[in-house]
Amino acid sequence: MAGAFIESKGGKAYPGGLTRRVFFTCFVAAFGGLIFGYDLGISGGVTSMDPFLKKFFPEVYEKEHDMKPSDNQYCKFDSQTLTLFTSSLYLAALVASLVASVVTRAFGRRLTMIFGGLLFLFGAGLNFFAAHVWMLIVGRLLLGFGIGCANQSVPIYMSEVAPYNYRGALNMMFQLAITIGIFAANLLNYLFAQYKGVDAWRYSLGCAAVPALMIIFGAFFLPESPSSLIERGLDEKAKTELQKIRGSKVDVDDEFKDLVAASESSKAVKHPWASLLKRHYRPQLTFAIAIPFFQQLTGMNVITFYAPVLFKTIGFGATASLMSALITGACNAVATLVSIFTVDKFGRRTLFLEGGTQMFLCQVLITSLIGIKFGVDGTPGELPKWYATIIVVGICVYVAGFAWSWGPLGWLVPSEIFPLEVRSACQSINVAVNMIFTFAIAQIFTTMLCHMKFGLFIFFACFVVGMSIFIYKFLPETKGVPIEEMHVVWQNHPYWRKFVKPTDSKPPSDEV
Ligand code: BGC
Repeated sequence: MAGAFIESKGGKAYPGGLTRRVFFTCFVAAFGGLIFGYDLGISGGVTSMDPFLKKFFPEVYEKEHDMKPSDNQYCKFDSQTLTLFTSSLYLAALVASLVASVVTRAFGRRLTMIFGGLLFLFGAGLNFFAAHVWMLIVGRLLLGFGIGCANQSVPIYMSEVAPYNYRGALNMMFQLAITIGIFAANLLNYLFAQYKGVDAWRYSLGCAAVPALMIIFGAFFLPESPSSLIERGLDEKAKTELQKIRGSKVDVDDEFKDLVAASESSKAVKHPWASLLKRHYRPQLTFAIAIPFFQQLTGMNVITFYAPVLFKTIGFGATASLMSALITGACNAVATLVSIFTVDKFGRRTLFLEGGTQMFLCQVLITSLIGIKFGVDGTPGELPKWYATIIVVGICVYVAGFAWSWGPLGWLVPSEIFPLEVRSACQSINVAVNMIFTFAIAQIFTTMLCHMKFGLFIFFACFVVGMSIFIYKFLPETKGVPIEEMHVVWQNHPYWRKFVKPTDSKPPSDEV
């Protein structure tokens, strides 16, 4: 497919298509998503394992086991220390993402990935050997630092090396890796939990070392992105690399010139963080905050983190709970493939709006089903198998809706709309906001469940309506627009054109 030529919506069209080199480069970089996914998926299963609870959180274990059927089931896992185990990681990732913006700008995307992988490896080791709660928490913090670095560098790296007309599909391999990581974690939790008498949780947590090693070794062999090389003054090397990833017969002069021009004007911006407040960057700043905020407020992570806890709450047995989490995890991964094959054809807006509608309908269905059966006091009746099956199917369709919309687009859209001069800073904001709300939901979910009961899903459904309207009104289509030409979409948008004037295609220098 090398040499494919498609007219871009931004007005420019660079030659060069999907070469083997660019595919494998993105494939390996996507390993960064595995470490994030593994962590997202592992804690829910581990926190529902009795030996783990008995050892580190005996009060939760006792509460769960002392419950009488007449007690309020919604509250049996309500413990702030237990949720701190899950959520601490995301606080650390937040801090790391802010620091990583400086590292990615100064030392490149690749080194940031390697550094992130190493931190993750140490975290996995500490968790495997954990004998006290503090070892667990410190291990989680290290994992969090690793994830902050990876999520900062990998999505922008992938968008930078991908040819513009395949950028959506290639970038979404990051999300695919996240979902595979979640699924692998769910599967290992399920398998390890079958072996009674061993510390299943130890193996579940320790296996995080595998994705860590994959990204460390993978990133070691990755080329640096041409944009990043130019950003660091290595123009010759950048041109050679661009030629290699676009194909040896392709004329890369035009693209290279534009990358150099973008880098030249980006040098006028010495303080990317302060510059972000300029009117000119209002659309990028808005989306760097709104997209991750809304992504988390879909409520998806209630399922990712706590599916086993949720299934146990509504009366499933321990094994059935882990099994159901496994089924939803598989749906997540398979449905992500759909977005990979459709995003560059139907565009970002279509997927966002379809996914939002699907999630909303499922949330209403799930709320009704749990509400009818459990009422407000959470007293369980007999849960017939067919009823349980409909709940699991409803959750799977909801997960699929997220998996082909807000999941991958939550990483793709920010990574492609930031101009080079503020790219690292904007991506840090994107990751930090994502992590703040991942943290918040992980931390307060069990309390929310205890107080809001089945209404929890309606709470998130309201946000899904709001975010769909927001996308409909404010997000321009970015499909098929080269990254360095992205300013055109803002200039043509009925709302954003007030902020981005045609003369603004060059970034204002700090002095202005
Ligand atoms: C989100 C995570 C979520 C995952 C689920 C990612 O895009 O950032 O918070 O757990 O998708 O697949």
